[in-house]
Amino acid sequence: VSLKSRNTLGFESRAQALAEADSLLSLRRILSAGRHRFSRIIPLGGGSNVVMNPCVDGMVVRYTGQRIWQEPVSANEALWHIEAGVDWHALVEKTTSAGWWGIENLALIPGSVGAAPIQNIGAYGSEIGDVIDSVHVMHLDDGRYEMLDRAKCDFGYRHSVFKATLAGRVMVVRVVLRLHLDGKPRVGYGDLARRLPENPGPSDVATAVAAIRQEKLPDPRRLGNAGSFFKNPVVPVEQAEALMTQWPAMPVWSTDQGTKLAAGWLIDQCGWKGYRSNGVGVHQQQALVLVHYGDGSVSDLLDMAKRIRASVEARFGVMLEMEPGIIGQ
Ligand code: EPU
Repeated sequence: VSLKSRNTLGFESRAQALAEADSLLSLRRILSAGRHRFSRIIPLGGGSNVVMNPCVDGMVVRYTGQRIWQEPVSANEALWHIEAGVDWHALVEKTTSAGWWGIENLALIPGSVGAAPIQNIGAYGSEIGDVIDSVHVMHLDDGRYEMLDRAKCDFGYRHSVFKATLAGRVMVVRVVLRLHLDGKPRVGYGDLARRLPENPGPSDVATAVAAIRQEKLPDPRRLGNAGSFFKNPVVPVEQAEALMTQWPAMPVWSTDQGTKLAAGWLIDQCGWKGYRSNGVGVHQQQALVLVHYGDGSVSDLLDMAKRIRASVEARFGVMLEMEPGIIGQ
């Protein structure tokens, strides 16, 4: 089966099988049949944060359940239960237009609800981990159902338990978000505040975020990409201060773990913005986004990524870590 239309970088990739389940019973049935026939089971969401190699050994499984329901907590608070197959941005539109606060800063992020907790999607000063109440999963090895509360998810910057001890072992089937009707806009990031009307509601924030993203980030339906290709590196405060004296214009943010640097800025300074070779390149408006023009290969992309890392390391002494996951051989 071809997975070319199932990864937003748009690389040709073939798996032994692809199965989709829209209910827990059918997922359990697919997993138990697949365990005997295939060497591996590979969960996949919207394919917007993965680099797919040409050959995927095993069966790819998608959970396509679309149900959404609310569990009231108080007059202004509810738990939203959302099945993993729902499109993330469609969810943001639904909650914000109904007046609920919580995920408005995460507008226009490509991908499915089920994939969102895995990398703990974050943008414009918020992360999904901030509003997650629990994540429900099915274990691939024996089909057992488990509910993980927020603490068990171990959320951090572009990190969760699903990228660590549970990596490749579970399928997310439902995400539960705690949303509020009496929330406040979080507009501290970049020039977001400047773009908002007075007394903005959640849908005004979502609209402004979407507009900023459209200016900087390529639409994966038009140009292959997987969003930011590297994480923003977090370095010790002393190292950041030494870099700041040498590069006074360098953007920095302080975090609990150290100082976060802008990988896009570092790559940009090394002269990569707009670079293009062998069908792959570096986006003209955002150096952190690597793009596929349609006639390149995964090895071209990974080779370019390696050279980008090497030049950032040589110039700034900072190691970049890849953000999307790699699938296949
Ligand atoms: N910058 C440059 N040149 C570039 C790119 C960025 O100088 O080519 C500078 C910008 O001017 C800005 C700073 O670097 O001062 C940060 O840039 P930006 O606000 O565009 O955000 P980012 O750090 O590059 C992160 C997330 C994005 C998210 C934005 C907005 C990561 C890895 N990426 O990017 O997430 O949308 O912040 O919050 O943390 C993704 O993960 O796929 C993604 C798109």
